[in-house]
Amino acid sequence: MRTIIKNGRIVTAVDDYHADLLIEDGKVAMIAKSIEAEADKVIDAMGRLVIPGGIDPHTHMELPFGGTSASDTFETGTRAAAFGGTTTIIDFAVQSKGQALNEALDTWHAKAEGKTSIDYGFHLICTDLPDQRLSEMRSIIDQGVTSFKLFMAYPGVFLVDDGTIYKAMTVASEKGGLICMHAENGVVIDVMVKKALAEGKTAPKYHALTRPTKAEAEGVHRAIALAEMANAPVYIVHLSCDDALQEVTRARDQGIPTYAETCPQYLFLDYSVYEQPGFEGAKYVMTPPIRDKHNQEKLWRGLQYNDLQVISTDHCPFCFKEQKELGLNDFTKIPNGGPGVEHRMSLVYNGGVVGGRISVNRFVEITSTSAARIFGLFPRKGTIAVGSDADIVIFDPDEEMTISAATHHMNVDYSAYEGTKVRGVTKTVLSRGELVIEEGQYVGRTGQGQFLKRGLFNSPR
Ligand code: URP
Ligand code: ZN
Ligand code: ZN
Repeated sequence: MRTIIKNGRIVTAVDDYHADLLIEDGKVAMIAKSIEAEADKVIDAMGRLVIPGGIDPHTHMELPFGGTSASDTFETGTRAAAFGGTTTIIDFAVQSKGQALNEALDTWHAKAEGKTSIDYGFHLICTDLPDQRLSEMRSIIDQGVTSFKLFMAYPGVFLVDDGTIYKAMTVASEKGGLICMHAENGVVIDVMVKKALAEGKTAPKYHALTRPTKAEAEGVHRAIALAEMANAPVYIVHLSCDDALQEVTRARDQGIPTYAETCPQYLFLDYSVYEQPGFEGAKYVMTPPIRDKHNQEKLWRGLQYNDLQVISTDHCPFCFKEQKELGLNDFTKIPNGGPGVEHRMSLVYNGGVVGGRISVNRFVEITSTSAARIFGLFPRKGTIAVGSDADIVIFDPDEEMTISAATHHMNVDYSAYEGTKVRGVTKTVLSRGELVIEEGQYVGRTGQGQFLKRGLFNSPR
């Protein structure tokens, strides 16, 4: 199969030029000013950006949480991701207490295999790591799952203690693996939550009011200190606020190998979402919570100066009806998480490039290239170069759209960005050279995505 993309403006993390692109056997085969070869398909990208497919390194398809499961399956969630220009996700497999790490991974392989429209990899969430299990991390890394998520939050469910974190960091980094930290002081948060409930404070907004920014900053500080002691790199997931960012910035200024992602919800939404009438705030019950508005420009600054390297979504949707409603009378029973995998690229392009905050190259870097580098996918993914996978997005930088649950493709009954107008729309998407989206229509097939055996942690700088 040969495809030529003509007349596009090719943008990577470092390049920006007009050229044609020849795709052969799923790979970029040639880039030249003009290509006039025979092809099965010719796509005209005149007036459009031709960018590497987005990489979202933080999704939770079908995640079991709070007595229910995230409403997007690997099938629906990856199709929605493709609509938005994401061609790779890294999802989180979860070890239940007492379970062997291999068994946990196999369970997630069974959920995803043959179901996805785009390529996917896994991190492994470890919830139970007695000494005899630590060595299992090595075999997981050998299977191409080269990063692990550990939690400082959710005591009794996901939380692991500092000694375990330190040991896991040591074992993982010796093998070239990476620890991703959910950094929040969950023990203190639990005290605040119990106090709020005892005072009859049950509305969704108390989810946010019992998870202060200092609890996140303390977790980030501790995670970095543990990593430094373990001589290991650390990656902070879903960083939400300036207090936490300051800890990352300080560490990076000292040369400590610290990396961090933020998410669109922390860049575009603010605490006022919880002050909406009725139970509306439940739509935004996620962890960390949405913060006060002043944090947003600080996060953008972090992205501008590379203290934040990645924008992921933490896509973890639960329907408002029946799922979020589990917590109608008690905010602690609202399943934590929100939808987002479909609109990351457009939101970031609009807020970042159209908003004058970042260059178009930086847009590609934070939505694709840096994640590829950090999570062992570069240069197969995350760039457009001869020999790279032909995961290509043809993106209209001028078209506008309004985000709405009525038109999105995620399997969830609300949008966190309902009515938001964005400029910059994904038009056509190829995954390893195969069309998935053509001019806004799904033309892919369930099962065309492949599991990605990832390489070792690779510092982007
Ligand atoms: O609220 C969230 N973020 N749910 C998903 C689990 C996690 O902590 O990432
Ligand atoms: Zn988390
Ligand atoms: Zn998450």
